[in-house]
Amino acid sequence: MRLARREFLQSAGAALGALALPSVSSGTGPLAPSPAGGSICTALPALPAGASPIELVAGVCRQRIRATGPETPVWAFNGTAPGPTLRFRQGDTADILVRNALPQVTTVHWHGLRVPNAMDGVPHVTQPPIAPGGTFGYRYRVEDAGTYWYHPHQSSFEQVPRGLFGMLVVEERKPLPVDREVLWVLADCKLADDNRQVEDFGRILDFGTEGRHGNVITLNGTAAGPHRRLELRPGERVRLRLLNAASARAFLVEFTGHAPWIVSYDGQPVRPHPVPDGRLLLGAGQRTDLVIDGTGAAGRSFAVRDHRRGGFDIATIAYGGKPVRPKVLSRPAAIAPNRHAEPDLGRATDHYLVFEGGVKGAPAIGKVDGKALDIEEIMARHGLAWTMNYTAQHEHAMMHEPLFRMRKGEHVTVKMINNTDFEHPMHLHGHFFRVLALNDVATRLREWRDTVMIDPRGSCDIAFVAENVGEWMFHCHILDHAAGGMMGTVVVEG
Ligand code: C2O
Ligand code: CU
Repeated sequence: MRLARREFLQSAGAALGALALPSVSSGTGPLAPSPAGGSICTALPALPAGASPIELVAGVCRQRIRATGPETPVWAFNGTAPGPTLRFRQGDTADILVRNALPQVTTVHWHGLRVPNAMDGVPHVTQPPIAPGGTFGYRYRVEDAGTYWYHPHQSSFEQVPRGLFGMLVVEERKPLPVDREVLWVLADCKLADDNRQVEDFGRILDFGTEGRHGNVITLNGTAAGPHRRLELRPGERVRLRLLNAASARAFLVEFTGHAPWIVSYDGQPVRPHPVPDGRLLLGAGQRTDLVIDGTGAAGRSFAVRDHRRGGFDIATIAYGGKPVRPKVLSRPAAIAPNRHAEPDLGRATDHYLVFEGGVKGAPAIGKVDGKALDIEEIMARHGLAWTMNYTAQHEHAMMHEPLFRMRKGEHVTVKMINNTDFEHPMHLHGHFFRVLALNDVATRLREWRDTVMIDPRGSCDIAFVAENVGEWMFHCHILDHAAGGMMGTVVVEG
């Protein structure tokens, strides 16, 4: 096993050398034209219907992110960041061929979907990484309706913020009746004055603090701002699928002048309810589906504002046109739930996960490769900054010591205790879990999620039934934290 690690480091070094290769075009022909100007409603690219297998090419290309100056070199799927939206109907079989035209190895993970373990896209854990020039076929039945996304799980702290991410939508058998559907992918990127990406990926300072934040917030791949307009007609009802694909940043979104209904978290339907306190927290990796009713009159406009960084207007909702209906609709009906086995807390096995570390972290001790060190030494010697249950693991170690093991069908609770001064969006692969409590306060809806935000010094209680056999990642979705030690696995034994 030790040897495997060394071999891995060697091959990682080889891949780094390959960065010097001339840039590889994505192979999809001419790059998609950059979406110009203000309208965003239809900006996300789609794929031709019925293609099988769907081909996703991870490659190097250029994209207009800022309105002025040169285009930005990005890594992207099929020539655009975000990549094409993959659309399925619940029960379909996804057949996707990933071609790697990057100067690095990669994989693709289908965030949130309960796929068989071998299709989960985690390098060294569920598959060998896809070499430059290589391909990998992903094929699985799409069991769960909802809003999901895809991204590499290899060096994700670099590959995702470079532009490799896309939305994956699974339509319900009985879709929510709305006039229109709108997809928003929020992310950020770090651009220099000449619009090139600042290539400072993998800094221990970012690993050990709040993660690498960009200086340009993007909406569907181009700079967000009040000039980005969502045009609504009075009375119109839209379903907004919202994804935070940023590698570290969280958003706290307010739709001024509106009272949207939350209809699902991470693709899992909830009883439609207004946004608590009017501000929607969207941690890295999370999704929320909203139903927005056009309560404004023609000619009016309203800001969509992020409150996380002092109030930044991401977009404007602008009204025009004839009213769609005389009166705004009332609360939407709930969407039918996906199939979930209900955890029985009375017979659940209890597990815990304790997080420690970070740069201003209190003295913490953890093990790396079986050796106990304090957090300063862990940072200096291993470039890791966090521990989970007193161990720090390399992102792509091939010998993850699982955090815990479960038998198939076992009912489990996990209490996560955050002994750090930073928030962490924790993501479990292969399963959804009920969020029972945050900071020891019971949640009202006990919502199903795959990614949950835990406050600094806070805690979170979750429960689920271990149904999906295999070794599954359990990690922070601040991708710099994941690479900095907050990347573990849990095992469901068949
Ligand atoms: Cu969105 Cu382990 O991933
Ligand atoms: Cu974290």
